[in-house]
Amino acid sequence: MRPVRRIPTEVHSLGLDAFGEPVLRLRTPPAWQIDPGQAVLADLGDSCGLLSPLFPCEVAPGLLSLPIEADSTFRPGMPLSLAAPIGTGFRPPPASRRWLLASSEAVPRRLLPLLKQGIERGVEIVFAGEPPAHGLPLSIEVVSRLDQGLAWSDYLALDTSRQALPSLLASLAGMGIASISLAAEILVASDILCGWGGCGACAVHGGRGWYLACVDGPVRPLGSLLEGTGRRGA
Ligand code: FES
Repeated sequence: MRPVRRIPTEVHSLGLDAFGEPVLRLRTPPAWQIDPGQAVLADLGDSCGLLSPLFPCEVAPGLLSLPIEADSTFRPGMPLSLAAPIGTGFRPPPASRRWLLASSEAVPRRLLPLLKQGIERGVEIVFAGEPPAHGLPLSIEVVSRLDQGLAWSDYLALDTSRQALPSLLASLAGMGIASISLAAEILVASDILCGWGGCGACAVHGGRGWYLACVDGPVRPLGSLLEGTGRRGA
């Protein structure tokens, strides 16, 4: 996990991400990096002094895109300070070649950096679930249900909110995923406020108890959230 630092940035532009949703593009220091699935805290000026937790939807050398409201008043050249990166991101096994991705969100924006990483690595990617109307690259195959891709994949990446986690875990248990040997990770988005483990706002209840998403997440091995015994996703 990289240490959380204050990162000076500057507004590059406002635009749309691959799914047509509004983003704020920021210039970041050229050598600065953030992993897919890690969060940032940003002062968007609309939270009474609190920093807003955001998951980047585009990451490139020297450039970072954050989801924002369509009526944002940011303008190119404005300075903006980030606290980042927060927590641990996705770590697909280097040898994995067949990635299965799924999200409980209607528009899986938090998975976009991982999708980009997979495409750059040349891995095969299947998205499971109801795909967004547009935005997924044509090279990505879509299956309607997660269990249709489990036997094929060698890496599973899931994305969900804290609210949707219990029903997702129940549905995974119904598929018998605990008995499948598969590298599997899950991003659970929650209310990150302090970003360093001091407030408890980001606490998530997984199968084995509570953890802090800002310190022990937001991406976790799926097996750590599954109850029961037997082989679990790494
Ligand atoms: S955000 Fe404060 S403990 Fe995680």
